[in-house]
Amino acid sequence: MSELVKNNELVREDLSKRPSVLRGDKVTKVFGYGNSKTIAVNQVDFNFREREVVSIVGESGSGKTTLAKMLLGLIGVTDGVVYYKDAVRDITSHKKKKEYWRGIQAVFQDPFSAFNIFSKIDSLLLDCIALMGGKKLPPEKKYEMMSEACSFVNLKYDELTNKYPFELSGGQMQRLMIARVFLMTPKILIADEPTSMVDACSRATILDMLMKLRDEVGMTIIFITHDIGLAYYVSDTVYIMERGKFVEVGTAEDIILNPQAEYTKRLISDVPKIHEEWDLSTV
Ligand SMILES: Nc1ncnc2c1ncn2[C@@H]1O[C@H](COP(=O)(O)OP(=O)(O)O)[C@@H](O)[C@H]1O
Ligand SMILES: [Mg+2]
Repeated sequence: MSELVKNNELVREDLSKRPSVLRGDKVTKVFGYGNSKTIAVNQVDFNFREREVVSIVGESGSGKTTLAKMLLGLIGVTDGVVYYKDAVRDITSHKKKKEYWRGIQAVFQDPFSAFNIFSKIDSLLLDCIALMGGKKLPPEKKYEMMSEACSFVNLKYDELTNKYPFELSGGQMQRLMIARVFLMTPKILIADEPTSMVDACSRATILDMLMKLRDEVGMTIIFITHDIGLAYYVSDTVYIMERGKFVEVGTAEDIILNPQAEYTKRLISDVPKIHEEWDLSTV
């Protein structure tokens, strides 16, 4: 991780002037009823802007994945409103959902769950092209797009055709997920612990690729993580989540160098070497 250099330029730029891409007003998710009721996400407000890198940080069980699933429209919102590009999000029909998913995509913790294991890799990539409206493109064009996407993540398309996802290593699969994002160029990418399965070296590479995509495509990235050190390194803005609530929100610098909430202070102190390892003195 130490080879990553924190990119502060965007923090300096005034984030509040950039258009909002995803906004939430008192977004809530309750599972179950009566005695077995769990308020997984409890009235959270947020505003994610164009090209912003956001981290949502909290311990296991704090509600991060539930929030991510609501943002993706994979599960319903119990209460509150989600705005997409400043309009109330409408995913009430299958058609509207598909349209929404052109703009918002995810990279999950477990790449094995992200793919249909019975589809070969070329057809997985072709599906992305189709989803983006490229179904009728000539085969040479599709081949060119798939090769480009693979080489963006240091995979060779020609070596992958005719293979199934389970024939790849975890790291290769994670890169394949990023190749799919490259093909789909969503406005928003949600990355739920995207690097937890891979070793430190691939981890830095994956983060690097995602940041490069952000720059090239102008994507907003939402990292979901329990790793506050990672959040500091990659994000413009950090949301700290404790038991379904945001207890603190601010720039990555403010949160790490001047935490206010007890919970945030504890998360930072749980990373004993954060100050040495990440050399905050140069910030
Ligand atoms: N489908 C579900 N049904 C009931 N409870 C759930 C469900 N999904 C998550 N929860 C509960 O919601 C809380 C938040 O879980 P989760 O969003 O997975 O947290 P995190 O991703 O931060 O670890 C936990 O208490 C979890 O047990
Ligand atoms: Mg989770």
